Amino acid sequence: MANKSKFQAIRGTRDLLPPDTALWNRVEQTAHEVFTTYGYGEIRPPILEPTELFARAVGGDTDIVSKEMYTFIERSDELDLQPTLGDLGPFLQRVKELQESGQVPRDPVGLELVEAARKDVDAMLRSKQKSDEAWRKIIELIMLFDGLKLGNDISLRPEATASVCRAYIEHNMQQLPQPVKLYYMGPMFRRERPQKGRYRQFYQIGAEILGGPDAPAIDAELIEMLMTFFDKCGLQGTELSINSIGHAADNCRRGYVSLLRAELEKVKDKLGADSQRRIETNPLRVLDSKLEHEQAIIATLPRIADHLCDECKAHYAAVKHELEQRGVIYRENWRLVRGLDYYMRTTFEITAQGLGSQNSVCGGGRYDGLVELLGGPPTKGIGFAIGEDRLILSLQESGKGAAPQGRDVYIAWMGERAYATAIRAAKTLRKAGFSVELPATELKFGKALERASKLGSRFALILGDNEVQSGEWTLKNLATSEQQKLTEQALLDYLKSL
Ligand code: HAM
Repeated sequence: MANKSKFQAIRGTRDLLPPDTALWNRVEQTAHEVFTTYGYGEIRPPILEPTELFARAVGGDTDIVSKEMYTFIERSDELDLQPTLGDLGPFLQRVKELQESGQVPRDPVGLELVEAARKDVDAMLRSKQKSDEAWRKIIELIMLFDGLKLGNDISLRPEATASVCRAYIEHNMQQLPQPVKLYYMGPMFRRERPQKGRYRQFYQIGAEILGGPDAPAIDAELIEMLMTFFDKCGLQGTELSINSIGHAADNCRRGYVSLLRAELEKVKDKLGADSQRRIETNPLRVLDSKLEHEQAIIATLPRIADHLCDECKAHYAAVKHELEQRGVIYRENWRLVRGLDYYMRTTFEITAQGLGSQNSVCGGGRYDGLVELLGGPPTKGIGFAIGEDRLILSLQESGKGAAPQGRDVYIAWMGERAYATAIRAAKTLRKAGFSVELPATELKFGKALERASKLGSRFALILGDNEVQSGEWTLKNLATSEQQKLTEQALLDYLKSL
């Protein structure tokens, strides 16, 4: 018997459905409009990228790269054949050539294994032996293919800043007038533990500024644009936190991190396991801890603001001044360090109401040096990404959700001739921009009017033999029950006048 078990969306993913999707569209439309007024253009990078791009940009030790990416090997197009015993030899020869030419990863262990396997196969074929020993060899060879990286290591993107930088380099955008301002929206993938406001497929709306001068005005204008966007969306209870985490030098962040590590060592026993581990791997992330019993300890730790170099200190002061000039209200949070490795200097986060523990609706910061790290020229960079799922959730919680979409006109028709007229009327009204429901089967007028109300229609257009003959159609206002007779043109004019 066929297995008829039902399918469900994969854990951490979900369907976005009407009427919610109307709100998603409104938010995205607002982003297009606001970002365009600030001179940004849209970029749509691919969802799949080389795993190495994220490892290098976001950082191999971060949670995102070390635990949360959806990664797989895409077998090289050159190796589509499924080798049978007869062509094992040529297959292995081909693998070797592709490894040597760099078309499949040049993993030295793999190279050695392939070479050894090739010799075994040659010997076996030459001796024509079919002993147990020979079969065991064949099974070993087949298992070897599973372990070999026969293609490129690719990942579903966990974020898009790395992709935008890759695209900037790939398309020589440093030759365009600088800075280049880009925005994007779309799904991102992280294998996190799902909960309210946290999904494995989630959506971001982000913007990046690449190139241009070392000007704090760039940081401030980007944040101003972000707050303008939230305001236009009607997001309630937004709070902007900012910080500067300096730059990677001994007289700046590196010096501070050594000091922080030394101070953390002194209180190590009082910290939880995660924080203890982070003293070694990334002491700054200890500041991110939400554990109740660590808060008092963290409050006594040295603060980065007191250890910034003169340039970073001046940059931070200028960003704050620029924000004030633009009327952007912020709060300083010295513990705001962010969970991706590419940041330097300005970092910021925005929280909104109604989101529970996952209340960060946007995060961003400066990342001078990232383009260079990815093989491009020295380039300044700053950007943000809004968690669209959380933005929508917060809007809905504060009563700004979308109402179910009604119809402007429901056409209640009876009889063959009326049906022909109904088809024409539907076409005309839709062309004029009205939403129209034309029932696919004939219904008694009473039933049709009932359906019209259920669908939240404003008007019912009643078409029967009388209407068709006289050319005067009946329009019923479903809120007031008032009826009027109108010609086709008068109907259009009337609806347009509303
Ligand atoms: P992020 O802080 O990792 O930064 O993510 C930005 C926002 O995406 C978060 O504040 C949150 O609203 C949302 N978000 C992250 N993970 C999830 C999830 N599992 N479920 C739902 N929403 C989530 C970045 O991604 C950087 N690329 C931002 C950036 C752009 N920095 C510079 N330019």
